[in-house]
Amino acid sequence: MDAMELDRRHFVAAGLSLGATALAVGGQPQLSTSQDASKRIRVGVIGCGSVSGSYLPHLAKCPYAEVVSLCDIRPERAARRAAEFKIGRHYPHIDQMLAGEPFDLLVNLTDMQEHEHLNREALASGKHVWSEKPIANSLAAGEELLALAKQKNVRLWGAPVVVTSPQFAFMAKTIASGALGRLAAAHADYGHTGPTWSSFFYEKGGGSMPDLAVYNLTTLTGLLGPARAVAAMVSIVTPQRSIDEKGEIAVAEEDNAMVLLDHGNGVISHTQSGFNYFNPHGHSGAHEERHTIAIVGNRGLMGLAGYDWEPRGVDLATEEHPQFRRHAPDAEGYVWQQGASLAAESLVTGKELLVTPEHALHVVEIITAARESQATGRRVELASTFKWPLVA
Ligand SMILES: NC(=O)c1ccc[n+]([C@@H]2O[C@H](COP(=O)([O-])OP(=O)(O)OC[C@H]3O[C@@H](n4cnc5c(N)ncnc54)[C@H](O)[C@@H]3O)[C@@H](O)[C@H]2O)c1
Repeated sequence: MDAMELDRRHFVAAGLSLGATALAVGGQPQLSTSQDASKRIRVGVIGCGSVSGSYLPHLAKCPYAEVVSLCDIRPERAARRAAEFKIGRHYPHIDQMLAGEPFDLLVNLTDMQEHEHLNREALASGKHVWSEKPIANSLAAGEELLALAKQKNVRLWGAPVVVTSPQFAFMAKTIASGALGRLAAAHADYGHTGPTWSSFFYEKGGGSMPDLAVYNLTTLTGLLGPARAVAAMVSIVTPQRSIDEKGEIAVAEEDNAMVLLDHGNGVISHTQSGFNYFNPHGHSGAHEERHTIAIVGNRGLMGLAGYDWEPRGVDLATEEHPQFRRHAPDAEGYVWQQGASLAAESLVTGKELLVTPEHALHVVEIITAARESQATGRRVELASTFKWPLVA
């Protein structure tokens, strides 16, 4: 038996013993007829490209999930992942997937522009949904999805999960304690030279904001509160790109973004993202050590070392301790690809997540408002909000 198999059996045993009692307490929506409370959530994964290579190993070790089917419009990709992860069924179209092997939770890992209609179809057929970002292409469409989920008594969640890291918790606690004094400003950035494996990143509805800034916007609104207004400039720096298997394409969505948010009470944040950023740590940005997020008040300053999706610790300097000191240096098991596993856990145990669809939709509205601000040259007021502050 290999190490992963051993892990899996250990986790499964833990999951089976937890499931029955916890579900009864949690009062979550019912699982499908093929499922009872003592079993794991049956999961279908749609989109078997790059990111599925990060999600599937995590789901394979999750005590609350069992991946039972896969789907990709490129059937060879679904077949390859099915063989790799020993998954019984795979399909070339969502309709066949929904009509095939029964499952409870759809994990949507397709192109950004495909999420909305696939999420809608899954919710309409009574599936819970965990979606990669974005959940939908606009706030209005996302609100309709949420209403559909409520009507069908199923759950809808979306990436990213940055608010579940111990570093986020430390920063939220530090702000709440007043250690930074009167909050004033924050900055966040994330960039690299852009994916080469798929063109959707550069097509309408793509861009660096929904792919990269989405992490920072989730963190900053999570820490500083829902934004009231957006002012932004976005641009296209590289009008043509070379994409694997496709060749040259015209870039139709921003690859360079500067977004200002008004969080109320005078607090202003700035997020920048782009697909033209030289990154000494390469595309993945792994092992980044510099502060990619900084938050300052009149009595303290805090910097997140590394990216919010892969944080390495929080450096804090205050009036009382002006030398930077490192806090929360341990990931404590947090990884950015844990979202679908957290969703399965929540469905089994009834434990609510800090990740909410309302927060994800607020970020969708920020991104569409940033595009509008660029197009009109104006500051754009926001309508959406979410339950805040975020405390575990
Ligand atoms: N690649 C990463 O490291 C990474 C990290 C975090 C988040 N994400 C997010 O994950 C999502 C997918 O990104 P990716 O890099 O894996 O892209 P990808 O192009 O490698 O994979 C997407 C897959 O979805 C399939 N697909 C597209 N439309 C479909 C449909 N209607 N039905 C079934 N399958 C369909 C494609 O054939 C492709 O195999 C995006 O939202 C991206 O922002 C990616």
